[in-house]
Amino acid sequence: MLLLLLGCLDHDPIPGGVDDRVFVAMQSHFTDFRSWTTITLDGEIDGHSGTERLVFVSALPEEGSDSFPVGTLIVKSAPVGETVELHAMVKRGGGYNPGGAPGWEWFELKESAGIPVILWRGEEPPSGEGYVVLGGEDSAVDGDCNSCHQAAYDNDYVHEVPL
Ligand code: HEC
Repeated sequence: MLLLLLGCLDHDPIPGGVDDRVFVAMQSHFTDFRSWTTITLDGEIDGHSGTERLVFVSALPEEGSDSFPVGTLIVKSAPVGETVELHAMVKRGGGYNPGGAPGWEWFELKESAGIPVILWRGEEPPSGEGYVVLGGEDSAVDGDCNSCHQAAYDNDYVHEVPL
């Protein structure tokens, strides 16, 4: 556990990690995301299909936390056809995204020559950039990031990295 915490501090963009601060991620914060703590997901969940989906987290929350600290970056990599889709969520804090997943900013990244580049960011995806939802037009879920992640509100809107 001690080793794990030391490893996390390396990636903690806010020394001391005080939660009432604001962290605005820049592209450079994602550069080494493949070296972060990695969780491998298999199978199909909620219409996400694929062979290997990976979740990378910049720093695990301290045991017993009730939320992820400001400055936490989480990237999900999922194969879609021939390419890999990279979505991310960053704990920005500062009252951001109050009507969706409070404190979290959403991102899509694309690796270009091995460097992750930010395609878009915000409280919700730009029109046409949300998930294609298998439930179809009648589905209550509209592909906006906030909608599905609200289902994980008791884990600070994060599905696969337990608090
Ligand atoms: C259809 C429901 C749904 C929508 C819409 C959705 N997600 Fe997710 N997301 C999930 C589920 C379920 C997981 C858990 C991992 C998995 O099953 O793929 C997840 C995992 C993630 C993770 C890894 C952290 C975690 O919560 O486990 C990130 C980052 C992420 N999603 C970003 C996004 C972004 C950005 C958007 C909007 C473009 C988005 N998601 C829209 C359901 C959704």
